[in-house]
Amino acid sequence: MLPFLPLLLLAAVAYGGHVVKRDTTCTVHPSGNFTDDSPAIVDAFALCGQGGTIEFLNETYWIEKVMNTTGLNDVQIDLRGTLLWSAANISYWLDNSLPLGFQNQSSAWFLGGNNIVFNGYGYGTFDGNGQIWYDFTKGVSNLAGRPHALTIWETNNSTFEGIRFVQSQMWTMTLASSSFVNMTDIFVSSTSNDSQPARNTDGADTLDSHHITFRRWEVHNGDDSIAMKRNSSDILIEDSVFYTGLGVAIGSIGQFPGEFEFVERVLTRNCSFIGTEFVGYIKTWTGVEQGFPPNGGGGGIGYVRDITWTNSTLNNVQTPAEITQCTSFSGAVGQCDTSTLQISNITWSGLEGSILGSAIASLACSAAAPCPDLRILNNDFVLGTNASAGTYSCHAVASTEGFTC
Ligand SMILES: *[C@@H]1O[C@H](CO)[C@@H](O)[C@H](O)[C@H]1NC(C)=O
Ligand SMILES: *[C@@H]1O[C@H](CO)[C@@H](O)[C@H](O)[C@H]1NC(C)=O
Ligand SMILES: *[C@@H]1O[C@H](CO)[C@@H](O)[C@H](O)[C@H]1NC(C)=O
Ligand SMILES: *[C@@H]1O[C@H](CO)[C@@H](O)[C@H](O)[C@H]1NC(C)=O
Ligand SMILES: *[C@@H]1O[C@H](CO)[C@@H](O)[C@H](O)[C@H]1NC(C)=O
Ligand SMILES: *[C@@H]1O[C@H](CO)[C@@H](O)[C@H](O)[C@H]1NC(C)=O
Ligand SMILES: *[C@@H]1O[C@H](CO)[C@@H](O)[C@H](O)[C@H]1NC(C)=O
Ligand SMILES: *[C@@H]1O[C@H](CO)[C@@H](O)[C@H](O)[C@H]1NC(C)=O
Ligand SMILES: *[C@@H]1O[C@H](CO)[C@@H](O)[C@H](O)[C@H]1NC(C)=O
Ligand SMILES: *[C@@H]1O[C@H](CO)[C@@H](O)[C@H](O)[C@H]1NC(C)=O
Ligand SMILES: *[C@@H]1O[C@H](CO)[C@@H](O)[C@H](O)[C@H]1NC(C)=O
Ligand SMILES: *[C@@H]1O[C@H](CO)[C@@H](O)[C@H](O)[C@H]1NC(C)=O
Repeated sequence: MLPFLPLLLLAAVAYGGHVVKRDTTCTVHPSGNFTDDSPAIVDAFALCGQGGTIEFLNETYWIEKVMNTTGLNDVQIDLRGTLLWSAANISYWLDNSLPLGFQNQSSAWFLGGNNIVFNGYGYGTFDGNGQIWYDFTKGVSNLAGRPHALTIWETNNSTFEGIRFVQSQMWTMTLASSSFVNMTDIFVSSTSNDSQPARNTDGADTLDSHHITFRRWEVHNGDDSIAMKRNSSDILIEDSVFYTGLGVAIGSIGQFPGEFEFVERVLTRNCSFIGTEFVGYIKTWTGVEQGFPPNGGGGGIGYVRDITWTNSTLNNVQTPAEITQCTSFSGAVGQCDTSTLQISNITWSGLEGSILGSAIASLACSAAAPCPDLRILNNDFVLGTNASAGTYSCHAVASTEGFTC
């Protein structure tokens, strides 16, 4: 005879997987036959998302629909298997991915709440089936409706650890309107297996988020390794290794006319940058609007300050330090001296290792708001053999320490 199971609940199955609930623990069982498991997953969060545990087995879950599991409280999520997103119906995702309310970005899964512990134990995996997206997108920037893998939404006092993200559909994860979140031991790999680029596959982005720690990350991708966007502060990135992407970015910000945005107190330390474009770079839009989001815009105001990249190693990085104030993804050019978005007190220090490009730094601030207090010091670079190797190119830089333009 089966033992008596209190509160045993088998959700009806008009769909793939099902949920078994015992006390406050919901175990999601996949269909195992590639029918949609997302309704069962959403049910598990509804049944156990307030003071409970959601368990995924060491199996593969097939996800064909968007999921919105926000407003959780005191919940433990154990991912011991693989969540595999279907990309068979591209038009479904283009029509239905959940809007972030920023730059036409949208997401396959909104997850959030207070006191969440999400553990992947080093092998729980998000697989976005991204190659299908890279092939479909053909390098077009910010294709509307192309979903991010995960949005961590309105989340406080929470931890995400030991999770793998492979072949993300677009941006891997965005922390939006979230605070006091630790993201620890996270592996991200989104690379294309053919000539179509894995563009817009950011490792992580922050938006309206504060007191976020990224610790022990490994990122292989084709865009920003980690990027701090609008209204982000008190961010720590440490003990991480970044391969092939663009490095740790601030921005882009200033895309929306008249809107005030800031990024401050971001510290990146004890990391390795391997074959990345930059170690640290800052990108703002022009002071005048040129085109419209997602790929055009400008005219935003605000500031970027107190940003440091330090004590890290480089291996074949193109240009360690970069600032531009005329970002555009739609080919707009010029107006590079119009932004009033003030960049100040930026440091690249304690960096050691090899550089491929000729410039150590390419710092193009806006003449409408020249940058004070740019510091590049105590570094130990191995330069390429190019005659112009080791240059510091500057525009509208108000004051420097440790280098001359
Ligand atoms: C897939 O598995 C579910 C149960 O998990 C079952 O209800 C459904 O009939 C199966 N579908 C196919 C096509 O085998
Ligand atoms: C998960 O299951 C697979 C077999 O399906 C097995 O090879 C693997 O070791 C299991 N992983 C863990 C961590 O239990
Ligand atoms: C794909 O999604 C679209 C839009 O949501 C829907 O109309 C269509 O029926 C779906 N196609 C298949 C084959 O499921
Ligand atoms: C998610 O669900 C909540 C609660 O129903 C709703 O308020 C919110 O708008 C939804 N979010 C998205 C992005 O659809
Ligand atoms: C982006 O969103 C704006 C509204 O926020 C809309 O007017 C515009 O058409 C969208 N662009 C694309 C490419 O979908
Ligand atoms: C933060 O979350 C942890 C569990 O993850 C919990 O033990 C602690 O009480 C929470 N702190 C606050 C202030 O809610
Ligand atoms: C690339 O990945 C896609 C999707 O997984 C697969 O269909 C295709 O065969 C792969 N191509 C190569 C060249 O490996
Ligand atoms: C995040 O990590 C710090 C230590 O680095 C710790 O003080 C803090 O309590 C952690 N926060 C959560 C939500 O676990
Ligand atoms: C958010 O979590 C922090 C601790 O991580 C706690 O001090 C703070 O009170 C929480 N804020 C809210 C609004 O719950
Ligand atoms: C960003 O922060 C500024 C300053 O606090 C605030 O005025 C602005 O409304 C914020 N932007 C958004 C979109 O929340
Ligand atoms: C400059 O930024 C650093 C952090 O990167 C901070 O410690 C320092 O206080 C800032 N300096 C000023 C004058 O604000
Ligand atoms: C960088 O390393 C130096 C020398 O070891 C140390 O004094 C400094 O505190 C470190 N900086 C940070 C931000 O950890």
